[in-house]
Amino acid sequence: MNKNKIIVFDTTLRDGEQSPGASMNTAEKVELAIQLEKLGVDVIEAGFAAASPGDFDAIERICGAVSKIRVCSLARAVEKDIKAAGESIKSAKFKRIHTFIATSPIHMEYKLKLSPDDVIKKAINSIKYAKTFCDDVEFSCEDAGRSEISFLKEIVEAAINAGATTINLPDTVGYRLPSEMSYMIGELVKFVGDRAIISSHCHDDLGMSVANTIACIKAGARQIECTINGLGERAGNTALEEVVMAIKTRSDVFAPLYTDINFKEIYHSSRLVATITGIEPQPNKAIVGKNAFAHESGIHQDGVLKHKETYEIMRAEDIGLEKNSIVLGKHSGSHAFRDKLVSLGYNLSEDELANVFEKFKILADAKKEIFDDDLRELMTDELVKIPCAFEIIALSSSECNKGHASAALTLKHNDEILKDSALGNGVVDAIFKTIDRISGIKGNLKDYQVRAVSQGKDAQAKVTVKVLFENSSTIIGHGLDTDTLMATAKAYIGALNSYISMKQ
Ligand code: KIV
Ligand code: ZN
Repeated sequence: MNKNKIIVFDTTLRDGEQSPGASMNTAEKVELAIQLEKLGVDVIEAGFAAASPGDFDAIERICGAVSKIRVCSLARAVEKDIKAAGESIKSAKFKRIHTFIATSPIHMEYKLKLSPDDVIKKAINSIKYAKTFCDDVEFSCEDAGRSEISFLKEIVEAAINAGATTINLPDTVGYRLPSEMSYMIGELVKFVGDRAIISSHCHDDLGMSVANTIACIKAGARQIECTINGLGERAGNTALEEVVMAIKTRSDVFAPLYTDINFKEIYHSSRLVATITGIEPQPNKAIVGKNAFAHESGIHQDGVLKHKETYEIMRAEDIGLEKNSIVLGKHSGSHAFRDKLVSLGYNLSEDELANVFEKFKILADAKKEIFDDDLRELMTDELVKIPCAFEIIALSSSECNKGHASAALTLKHNDEILKDSALGNGVVDAIFKTIDRISGIKGNLKDYQVRAVSQGKDAQAKVTVKVLFENSSTIIGHGLDTDTLMATAKAYIGALNSYISMKQ
């Protein structure tokens, strides 16, 4: 065991996906897993296999898409969950099962209705069963933050004897202060010694998840569980980018501790998560917020121009954010285009490059200057491919009077061309109604957001919709176009295609 290495365990695909409205489809999960591998995390929690066949399938596909990182599957301490978790990671090169049971008095009495002895028995049985699928088994004491230390020691002893190799102590409800987390982790690190790795998992309900995680590291935790952009249940989890940049920037305090994170992939990872989930980090969010590296006041700008370190403790380039990123235009050739994509972290085959270059040229005709963020969105659109049941061929719309409008669409479905039109309460409503009529599947729109991808009046619009179809859970769709209405139709069709592919 390397005592100085901090194992970065990313749970964006599991705890992050539990954020309200952050569900991702399988293609998006695979794309994100590949990016997390580039980012250099050590373990990804790919999902909760027993939750649904869709979750199981996504974990299996992720195992086939990554080869350098460990893929972990979550399971409650029950046989059927562990079986599903074990089977979902069968093909992974490096695998882990993560099983958990609550250990706080309040959870054991009211939620589990089990005595502490029965909780220990369940933990032992589930770890032993998990060991029949893989050697690497993580055990979490859910709500450890509100558990009694003496009971934690008892159950952790039993878990290690049953074969657990990592012991995770979550502050499940985000209640603890850094000094309290430090005490709990310190006690368990002393108790466990070299027999297992102690891990932290902090929630942000009181805005302290990052500070708590730092306190856990200082107290001896050698695995940190976190998510990109701090996504997660309720107020979210520890933001990965904040902790790893703190370790790097304050190496005077943390050395010899280190992570294997490839810092230049941070910005791209953050953008990908925001693009896929439609949840943008707040502008003043540390490290990845839009304003994180912007100096607005004259005094600050003057200082930075004279000597950068007057106001800058990190450089935007450190996280892979190139400033002044006006890049390409309609006269740019394929070599310049390829170089730019490589500098943004995309390595494409000749065929892929030719395909994206076509799309770039169409975009360059509609838009004078193409920025890095335009290219990132273009690439996400290109790489996250969901099976396309319906494809848009043409869209026209017109405003009638008193807010009414009509839309007409031509869609392709299984080589068949389908046309229809509908009236609506405004153009957006008319577009959605027309798509419902053509597909025969009625959607119930829950959320609609439009964002400009970069600056300028000719900026591409990125539309994100959240839709309920029949009895589905919320499905997210994205649409990208210089025409906002076309982006709207693409987003709705994207959600519809996701729904159809999930159903199949
Ligand atoms: O917050 C929590 O306790 C969890 C566990 C499943 C580890 O997410
Ligand atoms: Zn959690």
